[in-house]
Amino acid sequence: MKIDLTIDKERRKRAIQRVHDKNIIIPTYAQMKKPSLVPASIQRELSTIGLWDVNPRNLFRITWHNEPVTLGGGFGGVNYIELPTTMTGTPARIVVLVGKWFPTGAHKVGAAFGCLVPRLVTGQFDPSTQKAVWPSTGNYCRGGAYDSALLGCESIAILPEGMSKERFEWLSKIAGETIKTPGSESNVKEIFDKCWELRKSGQDLMIFNQFEEFGNYLWHYEITGHAMEEVLLQIMGPNDEYRGMASATGSAGTIGSGDYLKHLFPSSKIVASEALQCPTLLQNGFGSHRIEGIGDKHVPWIHNVRNSDLIVAIDDNAIVNLARLFNEKAGRIYLTKQGVPEMIVNNLDLLGFSGISNVLSAIKMAKYFELGEHDIVLTILTDSMELYQSRLQEMHLEYGDYTENNAAADFARYLLGESTDHMLEMTYADRKRVHNLKYYTWVEQQGKTYDEIQSQWYEPDYWSDVQKQVPEIDALIEEFNADVGIG
Ligand SMILES: Cc1ncc(COP(=O)(O)O)c(C=O)c1O
Repeated sequence: MKIDLTIDKERRKRAIQRVHDKNIIIPTYAQMKKPSLVPASIQRELSTIGLWDVNPRNLFRITWHNEPVTLGGGFGGVNYIELPTTMTGTPARIVVLVGKWFPTGAHKVGAAFGCLVPRLVTGQFDPSTQKAVWPSTGNYCRGGAYDSALLGCESIAILPEGMSKERFEWLSKIAGETIKTPGSESNVKEIFDKCWELRKSGQDLMIFNQFEEFGNYLWHYEITGHAMEEVLLQIMGPNDEYRGMASATGSAGTIGSGDYLKHLFPSSKIVASEALQCPTLLQNGFGSHRIEGIGDKHVPWIHNVRNSDLIVAIDDNAIVNLARLFNEKAGRIYLTKQGVPEMIVNNLDLLGFSGISNVLSAIKMAKYFELGEHDIVLTILTDSMELYQSRLQEMHLEYGDYTENNAAADFARYLLGESTDHMLEMTYADRKRVHNLKYYTWVEQQGKTYDEIQSQWYEPDYWSDVQKQVPEIDALIEEFNADVGIG
């Protein structure tokens, strides 16, 4: 069993008491997938609750279906936008799911839920005595701190010191403790070191390590994967074909949604992307980069590399310059002149840094396979520019005003000029080379065994065993809710 569902009766009783005291009801996977299943009484309560409020009913907003408003929103269709050819430079249909409308403004709150809830409802995690530790490159620890605040349990957020100011400001209000590890985005090893230090500290804590927790993979497989399927059902015409999805691999949770879609569309592709300045997947390389949230210098344990088809490395210069193009006034005016519809231009702040990177990865895939107007590529906007306003200000101070000339150069070079360089369509041997990199992080450093890493590659049912755990988890959630006895 990849997600351990062993019950600890004594702790479970204490968890039930805590959840009861905090007036919490836990949503099931079925409800996150299909919020029309959420009881009407809860939907009524949500009509007066803000999207980011620390209110336990917001657990029901861990879904792609939130109405895109900051207060009192109900549930509707999946939040997505289709980017026009005038912007992408490819006739292919590039469709993006929007993460901004999750509580905390990023879909990582779902990954945190996916890791925490199985441990809570089995009694393995006791929120009345234990601290929850959330190692992260930014948004996961925000999601974890948020979920912990709802449970009233103490939390420790761990993230690199070089992340954007907005994240730290928000964490100072929500997390019990925030630990800054040395370095920036790609310094994940330093985060793992801090986890070991905490384990040895003698404190009663539980570490929810997203990079190895199958709850993260499963949440995206089931919830993001299903949301993508829903979008496809909505937008696909009779001659259209779904060709694949692209996702950066921070913890390799999001990319799990590609596995779900591959079951439905076996010939579709999965593109794993990373920063060119830290080309770990592409070249076993290392380095630091500015695409906040996508880590690297290691291959996450939960990345099903055997199922990935292409690797794409994205230049972080493209990201920071496109962030200016999409958000500075001169950039938006220029884009409108180039024929990008105003409705799209006005919503370009929905793309955070990694979202821009994901869009470029999707464009590169479309160009590489010479996709046409009936081909659909999906990707994800994990968060929005709300978390990077300080970065825009920093660039403004460093480079001065953003002008029409800057806009023309960035549009031509980084959007329409996006090329198919720094890509690899993986053979069996390429995939195995990437999978083998896991050895150095996970077996040598982080306590996984030789047998486990071999099973990931050779055991035919390894990944499907995880995928099949949803009904059991939902049954445990329902039993737990019944024992809590609220609602
Ligand atoms: C902004 C941002 N983008 C992308 C990712 C990567 O997503 P995943 O960890 O699911 O691979 C993260 C992860 O924390 C993130 O915070």
